[in-house]
Amino acid sequence: MRKPLIAANWKMNMLRWEAQELARSFLEKVPDLTAYSDVVLIPPFTVLDVVRGVVDGTHVKLGAQNVFWEERGAFTGEISPGMLRDAGCEWVIVGHSERRHVLGETDEMVNKKIKASLDSGLNVILCVGETLEERESGKHLKRITGQVEIALSQLELDSPHRLVIAYEPVWAIGTGKNATPDEADYVQGTIREITGNIFGDMAEEVRIVYGGSVTEENIQELIGEPNIDGALVGGASLQAESLAKIVQMGTEASVV
Ligand code: 13P
Repeated sequence: MRKPLIAANWKMNMLRWEAQELARSFLEKVPDLTAYSDVVLIPPFTVLDVVRGVVDGTHVKLGAQNVFWEERGAFTGEISPGMLRDAGCEWVIVGHSERRHVLGETDEMVNKKIKASLDSGLNVILCVGETLEERESGKHLKRITGQVEIALSQLELDSPHRLVIAYEPVWAIGTGKNATPDEADYVQGTIREITGNIFGDMAEEVRIVYGGSVTEENIQELIGEPNIDGALVGGASLQAESLAKIVQMGTEASVV
């Protein structure tokens, strides 16, 4: 049985006072569900310390939205895995579609980032997903297979719990148009097969979550699918009330 993971990607939102208010308010509203699900808040770098101050010692974990693959040196503007550990992060998102499409991140860069992160003790949420054009031309499974295979190539994974793959179709991100549970489950089943070819039996324990317009209205249906082990939530994670509901409803739906 895979324990669901629900992660809040705040993207480039939240000043310090806002982050503190949101994290505090979320913690007040959400019960400790550690036995049933993992919950991660992923704010921008500049407020990691603020959110850490709120969640430290609680059931909620801290993550970062990006990382560089070198540990130290002349890489102006970059942040290393060790720095993220030092800032209290247990998790890091790698290969988010906004980084791939807006900032030109390649599959090879994603691969280097994952290796460096795992080596330094961070757990990784690898994002993959197709564009609308790729889906409409029927190339989505090929694209996703390529993304997963390159991202995970030559990887030493000591525990399946340290890697989460998020299927985030680009056309569903921030659009209010989520993939149907069936659509997402089908693609995520394919991702599980590819992961199985790479890691063997261990892949059964790797969590594959869905992201793209997740809300309190659709979380139960999505998590009810056999290959959907949680969610990566963007817009709906910016309000304490809706994030707390998503965590609670998602956890309940996966336990049933
Ligand atoms: P939305 O939930 O706003 O669609 O964003 C999804 C996402 O990109 C999470 O990483």
